[in-house]
Amino acid sequence: MQIFLNGKRAALLCIVALSWTILAARQTEPTHSLMPVPAQVRFTNGTFRLTESFTIVIRRTSTSRLEAGMQRALQRLAGRTGLFFSRPAVSQNQNADKPALSVMVKQPGEVKLGEDESYTLTVDARGILLAAQTDIGALRGVETLLQLLSADKDGYYFPCVRIVDEPRFPWRGLMIDAARHFMPVDVIKRNLDGMAAVKLNVLHWHLSDDQGFRVESIVYPKLHERGSDGMYYTQAQIREIVEYADERGIRVVPEFDVPGHTTALVYAYPELGSGPPPDGIERKWGVFDPVLNPANESTYEFLDRFIGEMATLFPDPYFHIGGDEVEHGGKVKHWDTNPEIQSFMKRNELENNKDLQRYFNERLLPIVKKHKRIMIGWDEILQDNMPKDIVIQSWRGRESMMQAARQGFQSILSSRYYIDLIQPTDYHYLNDSIPPDANFPPELQKMVLGGETTMWAEFVSWETVDSRIWPRTAAIAERFWSPQNVRDIDDMYRRLNVISLQLEEHGLTHEKNYEMMLRRLVNGNDVSALKTLVDVIEPVKGYNRNNLREHTSLSPLTRVIDAARPDARVARNFRTVVDRLLTNTPLDLQILAELRTQLTVWEQNHAVFEQLAERSPALREVLQLSDDLSAVARIGLAALSLVENEKQETDEWGKEQLELIKLARAPRGQVELMVLSAIEKLVYAASEVQPSGTKNK
Ligand code: ACM
Repeated sequence: MQIFLNGKRAALLCIVALSWTILAARQTEPTHSLMPVPAQVRFTNGTFRLTESFTIVIRRTSTSRLEAGMQRALQRLAGRTGLFFSRPAVSQNQNADKPALSVMVKQPGEVKLGEDESYTLTVDARGILLAAQTDIGALRGVETLLQLLSADKDGYYFPCVRIVDEPRFPWRGLMIDAARHFMPVDVIKRNLDGMAAVKLNVLHWHLSDDQGFRVESIVYPKLHERGSDGMYYTQAQIREIVEYADERGIRVVPEFDVPGHTTALVYAYPELGSGPPPDGIERKWGVFDPVLNPANESTYEFLDRFIGEMATLFPDPYFHIGGDEVEHGGKVKHWDTNPEIQSFMKRNELENNKDLQRYFNERLLPIVKKHKRIMIGWDEILQDNMPKDIVIQSWRGRESMMQAARQGFQSILSSRYYIDLIQPTDYHYLNDSIPPDANFPPELQKMVLGGETTMWAEFVSWETVDSRIWPRTAAIAERFWSPQNVRDIDDMYRRLNVISLQLEEHGLTHEKNYEMMLRRLVNGNDVSALKTLVDVIEPVKGYNRNNLREHTSLSPLTRVIDAARPDARVARNFRTVVDRLLTNTPLDLQILAELRTQLTVWEQNHAVFEQLAERSPALREVLQLSDDLSAVARIGLAALSLVENEKQETDEWGKEQLELIKLARAPRGQVELMVLSAIEKLVYAASEVQPSGTKNK
């Protein structure tokens, strides 16, 4: 990358990168970079050296899942180390003179909720023992081993250690929405590999919505023919993915959202809808009017045959029926305005739309059960009198999860795990299905199965989806797996940086597509000025992207906002280093110099960026932001000089600067600068102006 830079800028960037490495090394020695942190870890002295004669020996029970899993593990080790392992490298016969990983499994596992995933891992200088009740536990354990791989001047090794591990929650999921934007088979597979690497065990696959119906149906072929723009999974592909997941110990729970979020379904089969037929699948984002007609017997015949067909593709006992956002602003337009539905409600003494949805769910439940499936739905299906054998997925707040537990329902938490909303990792990480301070008696805690992170796909394509899932989902996976008291944010971020790079070996694109997307934006010009800017910006949070500029399913997802990632690392490092400067006394002159170097890079960047934007029109939507970065960097530099010299220029210095920083908070091109709070802190430290309005001491 640096060959594209002019000499001076390259030197500056190198100094910044180097100094942050030094700063990191100054902190206490990290013990390990495991994620999720195991239940018990005890390091001992010594190492097990990895050589080309390393083998994996499966003792006792062997299964095809275990063998394939160990072959993959070995291939990953070869890929990381460049070692040519002797073949066959995975065997069931022990050759005593070869250094080996011995895998001892008691019985084949089943990919089902609550399966035993525990393992113990012992590394000593002579060998490695991985013992587990099931092959699935062994898969979890070998991921831990792979994360332990280390290197020094003598080569690669595993540190000697004893690990005893098991998950905190049995349901640890990632939901991928393949309806809003289709996610090809390869995207799903590489994400399954990523999930396995961090011990997630449920792929919740959101397969139908207003904007698309993504599964081939032989029984109702118009679903995929009319409902998908040709972008759907064939039944063979579904089977392939379910098998791929099974090999990795991951359940696949399909979601077909009913009775709302059904524009694509109703477009395919208008006779099942409650209002005028839609004139196509939906292109916009939001909540839409088409909704199934609960008063029509054909609706239930359709659901019966359709669920029957899907049950042949998805073996997991759980079947997700959606159920969310049927009411919109207290109304369900196509129910409210349909006279047949209104008279049906009167006849059946259904007072309102919630009652009608409950009726629908009560009709749906025996159908789901008939096909030997357990019904799960979003928290809107939590209604009085529903039988207790359904599972509630809580998305509108933890309270609905607690309420579900109190009413006797099992539940999983997704509220505050909405990774599409671009929150920083620590926001999700500290969110807990059962928080440490929860007033939640143990018998109710048992009703909580775990949680799921949700990757809604309005604003991601196959190119960018990984960058929203990873690496943040690895930290959330730790929340689901590790003991509750593993909550150190700094340590989480340290380990996350390591895991993020490891995850790339599965073909995940969250790191590498960053450079690719920046390159595309500059049309063959030097990318460095763009990178300097995008390194410190993030997409707007929450639902603001669409509020600031309406998108459709056809809008480009290749803009600066799409290249920008959650938790912009350079910005976060800068904020951390500023905090360190301001909390250390006496003033740390090395930190001061580092900050000055970084701020100088930002200050000078705009002049280059401006020229770049002349030649790359796609960048102009963030031109003002680039100018703002330079301006606030200049303020930061002035503040540093004042801090260093312990003087204040005038009583007034600070006020105008804070005003300017405030103006720079406005998002441009739906992205925002992430260094403003830190520069504000520098201004406060350098001036008489204080956040509370009080005077500096
Ligand atoms: C949802 O986010 N509508 C479940």
